[in-house]
Amino acid sequence: MAPLKPDIHICPTNQALIESVSSEIISLARRAVERHGWATIALAGGSTPRDLYGFLATKPQCDQIPWNQVKVFWGDERHVPPDHPDSNFRMAHEALLAHVPIPANQVFRISGELPDANQAAIRYEALLRRELCAPEDAIPRFDLILLGMGPDGHTASLFPGSQVLQESTRLVAAPWVEKFQTFRITLTPPVINQAAHVMFLVSGASKADTLRAVLEGPYAPLELPSQVIKPANGKLSWWVDREAAQRLSAS
Ligand code: 6PG
Repeated sequence: MAPLKPDIHICPTNQALIESVSSEIISLARRAVERHGWATIALAGGSTPRDLYGFLATKPQCDQIPWNQVKVFWGDERHVPPDHPDSNFRMAHEALLAHVPIPANQVFRISGELPDANQAAIRYEALLRRELCAPEDAIPRFDLILLGMGPDGHTASLFPGSQVLQESTRLVAAPWVEKFQTFRITLTPPVINQAAHVMFLVSGASKADTLRAVLEGPYAPLELPSQVIKPANGKLSWWVDREAAQRLSAS
């Protein structure tokens, strides 16, 4: 089945983007729960996702999500403890999870505190298989994966030139990121592309050139890792504000 074409939603402001994404998440979560009893969602790091989490934590949005049937994961994590200022877990916990009634045993963070980042990746891969009920030979399928996009076209912790961009079997990897001189722990393309829904959140003028290159330029995922995200049997959507969309062709 050919991958579905992404649909692109251009919102007038960052706030409008967040409100649109929030209502999309609410309906996705409710549909997933109706369908199979759970909604499995992987969160992203970054400032745009953080703004979304803050909005989701407020009424009436927060009351519209069936938190008792939601399982929360992360698409990537920094190689730091959960209370570190750079931790994606800490950011999402402070912005959202501390303010909603999700049971603690339904929040599955990546163990960024482990001295060996690869061990954290191995541990998280086993957790994904268990919590998403995927047999050994199958790729777990998230209901929703949220992604941001950096100005260099990275997403999750898939950075330009990374070997993880060509990973075909592991679900979680721990690449060295030269530009930050640190390891990261990240979902790999196979598991992201297995998701039922992948939503990119991109805002701000600083992303405009990269967004145009990713969506309209030649396919070059080693240079523009966001291009590697093409759910084979799922829906890809881009939620961008007008600032980020300003270089896209009118069509
Ligand atoms: C991270 C994120 C990363 C982020 C993008 C966009 O760990 O930092 O996973 O992929 O989503 O860098 O971040 P901004 O929205 O802050 O530009």
